[in-house]
Amino acid sequence: MADSSLVDNSLVAIKAGFTLRPAIPDDIAGLVKIESDVTPFPWNAKQFADSLQSHLSYVLCKGNRLVGFLIFNQVLDEAELLNIAVKTSFQGEGLGACLLDYCLAEISGSAVNLFLEVRVSNFPAIALYEGRGFRHVGERRAYYHGESGREDALIMRCDLSSG
Ligand SMILES: CC(C)(COP(=O)(O)OP(=O)(O)OC[C@H]1O[C@@H](n2cnc3c(N)ncnc32)[C@H](O)[C@@H]1OP(=O)(O)O)[C@@H](O)C(=O)NCCC(=O)NCCS
Repeated sequence: MADSSLVDNSLVAIKAGFTLRPAIPDDIAGLVKIESDVTPFPWNAKQFADSLQSHLSYVLCKGNRLVGFLIFNQVLDEAELLNIAVKTSFQGEGLGACLLDYCLAEISGSAVNLFLEVRVSNFPAIALYEGRGFRHVGERRAYYHGESGREDALIMRCDLSSG
């Protein structure tokens, strides 16, 4: 669970030594760099810029250094996790789970579902989502560019209606 003790209105201590704050335009180059390091078909600067305008976009920092991000959206009582990443050298320390827990805490009480799409081959992410109660509810065939042709997306849903 995210530590809700606020350092100020926009900075959340999410784990010892790590803070989460809303992303700003100056973060875009860093977001692209992290995304390019962790995924073969990364979002570009325009996609991040659009996300900053349209979605809830946060950066995970160790001091002044960007080490991850979280982007989600909510319309009425339906929410969608649009992107989440942790810089490779910081993976496996529980930070991805902290980011997802922060998202879940933010929408709990106002959303009944959190949906996401994930590559069928993305086993670490699928394990993270399943561990947080997401279930496979559908597929989008050939949804992503893949290393050899197209790759399917799994649609996953976390049911928040029971609290
Ligand atoms: C998915 C991602 C955010 C996980 O971040 P992380 O900080 O490494 O994850 P955590 O250390 O918090 O691990 C949480 C859970 O994820 C799963 N997990 C993480 N890394 C894993 C791996 N290499 N293999 C299998 N499961 C893994 C485990 O279930 C783990 O729980 P556990 O520690 O109790 O076993 C990270 O791997 C990442 O940035 N991937 C590239 C970007 C991406 O694919 N984003 C998802 C787009 S849909």
